[in-house]
Amino acid sequence: MRLSLRFVLPLLLVLAGIAYAVAPLIDRLTLSWFVRDLDSRSSLIASTFQEPLQEQLAAGKKAKITEFFNRVTQDERIFAVGYCATPTAPMLASYQLPAQIRCDNLDRWNAPSDHLLPSAQGPLHVAVKPMGTEAVPTGQLVVVHDMSFITRRSEETKRYLFYVFMALGAAVSLITVIVAQLSWRGWMAGVRALLRGEGLLRRPEISAPPDLPGFKPIARDLQRLISELEAETRARDESQLTWTAETLRTILHGELRGEDVIVVSNREPYIHQRRGERIEVHRPASGLVTALEPIMRACSGTWVAHGSGSADAEVVDKNDRVAVPPENPAYHIRRVWLTPEEEAGYYYGFSNEGLWPLCHIAHVRPIFRSSDWTQYVAVNRKFAKAVVSEAKTKNPIVLVQDYHFALLPKMIHDELPDATIISFWHIPWPNPESFAICPWREEILAGMLGSSIMGFHTQSHCNNFVDTVDRFLEARVDRESFNVSFGGKLTAVRRYPISIAWPPDPELLQKTVPDCRSHIRQLNDLPPEHKLGIGVDRLDYTKGILERFRAIERLLELNPNWIGHFTFVQIAAPTRTGIDEYQHHEAQVRALAARINARFRSRGPAPILLKIEQHAPPQVYEYFRAADLCFVSSLHDGMNLVAKEFVAARDDERGVLVLSEFTGAARELPEALTVNPYDADQCAAALHLALSMPEAEQRDRMRLMRGLVAEFNVFRWAGRMLLDAATKRRRSRVTDQPGTSPL
Ligand code: G6P
Repeated sequence: MRLSLRFVLPLLLVLAGIAYAVAPLIDRLTLSWFVRDLDSRSSLIASTFQEPLQEQLAAGKKAKITEFFNRVTQDERIFAVGYCATPTAPMLASYQLPAQIRCDNLDRWNAPSDHLLPSAQGPLHVAVKPMGTEAVPTGQLVVVHDMSFITRRSEETKRYLFYVFMALGAAVSLITVIVAQLSWRGWMAGVRALLRGEGLLRRPEISAPPDLPGFKPIARDLQRLISELEAETRARDESQLTWTAETLRTILHGELRGEDVIVVSNREPYIHQRRGERIEVHRPASGLVTALEPIMRACSGTWVAHGSGSADAEVVDKNDRVAVPPENPAYHIRRVWLTPEEEAGYYYGFSNEGLWPLCHIAHVRPIFRSSDWTQYVAVNRKFAKAVVSEAKTKNPIVLVQDYHFALLPKMIHDELPDATIISFWHIPWPNPESFAICPWREEILAGMLGSSIMGFHTQSHCNNFVDTVDRFLEARVDRESFNVSFGGKLTAVRRYPISIAWPPDPELLQKTVPDCRSHIRQLNDLPPEHKLGIGVDRLDYTKGILERFRAIERLLELNPNWIGHFTFVQIAAPTRTGIDEYQHHEAQVRALAARINARFRSRGPAPILLKIEQHAPPQVYEYFRAADLCFVSSLHDGMNLVAKEFVAARDDERGVLVLSEFTGAARELPEALTVNPYDADQCAAALHLALSMPEAEQRDRMRLMRGLVAEFNVFRWAGRMLLDAATKRRRSRVTDQPGTSPL
């Protein structure tokens, strides 16, 4: 509106100016027309008077002539009439004839410029017309017209002109405002359409003609600009949201109303084990399970997983389903049964001897056997069937978890092309050179690209993945939007850093920190003021437990004051024990701990307490709260949730986190003491710093880390993925082409 006013006011002023400038021109023009009219009128009067005048003259009735002239002047336009027989004769005239007009100066009034005579009543027009014939002239008739009506008309014309220009201005302004408003609305509609994901070129009313391909890049640029704005707005919106289980539930019910959510992972969240007469329920040591459990509670979906417990088959219904959590059922596990051969080839073989070391740069050689690959393909197909049979609709949202199921996205997509498949790779993705050694690299990449969204923890994993696809597949990779197009299907590659539930379960924090400190020290026969470090991992070679122990040994060498005053408790959950490399690794860990303990034990409590057993979350939290430091020394780790759990456990804002730079967590927690686990001296220095750190500094660092974990919690991780899935679905609905909508 302001824009319109800014345009309309100057327009009206300009038009008014034009009206005033044009008026004199029009005046002059109309005057010349009137003069011409009066001239011809005078000629007409002269020829009309010819006969009666000659008769009266012939009869010598001069008085009659002046009386006739006076009568004629009653016409409102004729001011006066006069007659001169000769230039010297007296003028026979009506009584108003101006004195300046005389018989001896009649020639003067024939000149064009002298037609007009000013008078008190206004301008007068004087015309002198010859009487008689050319051969026998009989004198001259003077006809004087009153021209005041011309002035009146000129004024009227000016006024009229002014009104006409003003009306014209108003009309032009009105049309301009309407056109401006309509085109603004058109643009706004176009922009909104783009925000809704409808391509600018797709909307008929604002589409570029097909013969103008030059418009397409403009539309693309605009779309990109809008995506950036959208991303910015989204980031702002998100930062104002506190992500809780409730937020997630609201998103699920609001954005994905009535949608069918299915999670697929190898490891199940609850394992039923037979112990003699009793059936026990266990929670496995898996970061993936820890992260997904709160989401499943929130969305009441179905979790498809390998039924690996000895009593799993006893508790399921006829559809292989069991409601969990056992104490308060909120969702279902659909168990998939594997034969020992399948488990050996798919789980132990291809997944954990092949892909696991391939993706972790931990200097353990991957082993690829074609028999394992065959089982991997078969088991992926088995899970695909289970997912399809669990789908309540033809377009469920399927969350595929981890490296056990690289082929599953494509298999599901082939069966349910309308499904939204979000895959998350919980471990790192290596660079193309490292990945190249996998004999089935193309099949794996093609399988993963069956996903609508492919998620990783960090941007560098996304970059590596996109580089690998670019190197080995005939795919179109858009590095601007991070979308990959392969076989007519579009996959968005996105970073979603995983996290933990926040706030942590209050039961885990029930015992006060002083109680935890004294209880754990008593339990392990340590003096009350003894310094304590903690490590909690699966007993996996990627976790850098050997490097950790070497760093402790180096600490004691470099700072002997800590000998007998510092103990490191290593909780190590047995894992994948059927694999040689893991058995070997366990033996190495035991041996190294024993050697170091033997070296320093004579001067007080052992420096390393190795606990190779499963610990339930309350026990782990008690250790976290009792410790002075937590040491995470992974050689390579997608994220590492132990680091975040330690931070969550320390509501007293004390304790120091020593963290490997090769974890995804190190990118989010810069306030930790970041170390290279391969550098024993550097790690020893960090341990010393942590043990001597003033409480105020501990508090400052811990407070910042807690703030980050609180904000970027697991509900946000899941919520972000689900919101993106919802956006993709909305866009697909508009384009009516599932799988081809960008994000
Ligand atoms: C890692 C993997 C998970 C796996 C977990 C435990 O965190 O990313 O997929 O569940 O290790 O390993 P396990 O072989 O015992 O399931």
